[in-house]
Amino acid sequence: MKRIIFATGNAGKMREIREIMADMDVEILSMKEAGIETDIVEDGTTFEENAMIKAKAIATFTKDIVLADDSGLEVDYLNKEPGVYSARYMGEDTSYEIKNQAILDRLAGVPKEKRTARFVCAIAAAMPDGEVLVTRETIEGYIGEKTAGSNGFGYDPIFYVDEYGCSTAELTEEQKNEISHRGKALRAMKEKLNQYGC
Ligand code: IMP
Repeated sequence: MKRIIFATGNAGKMREIREIMADMDVEILSMKEAGIETDIVEDGTTFEENAMIKAKAIATFTKDIVLADDSGLEVDYLNKEPGVYSARYMGEDTSYEIKNQAILDRLAGVPKEKRTARFVCAIAAAMPDGEVLVTRETIEGYIGEKTAGSNGFGYDPIFYVDEYGCSTAELTEEQKNEISHRGKALRAMKEKLNQYGC
């Protein structure tokens, strides 16, 4: 059976990829399960670049397919900040309570139509033959006036979607996975892998 290694240490992401790719004839392993341990400098300027950097770096350790993702929040009014710096915004160790409040403060008084934002997710697959496949998907929304909800992580409490009229931190994991940037990018990658004969 073919093996796919997903370059993440995040249990939630592993659960999601296993769910989405359950009907494929592949075994999905985390980096830890594959016995790979390495630190990668994500110095790309786009989500796609960072995902490719990660996937290609890990592919040097294995002959299996390697999948890597990179994601973040783009706020239009802030010139698409924090973007690829989403995890590092105001410092990696700064709490999301502080980061989220800072974004709300920077948008104080800005009307809803100018508060548009999106989560972006790029996924790269480094194939054993050297080919690299990439998908990129978004979920469109806006920055609310205040934080709401306690599900999810990161910027979820300030990111609202019109479809549900609430923040993504107020959605269940299933509801979010169905419409999320990562869910969509993973499903698009599954299509590409299928076309590739996986
Ligand atoms: P990474 O791609 O896992 O490194 O995530 C980058 C950062 O983007 C995270 O640390 C979060 O700050 C932010 N982010 C990405 N996806 C989401 C999401 O679905 N909800 C909230 N924050 C997110």
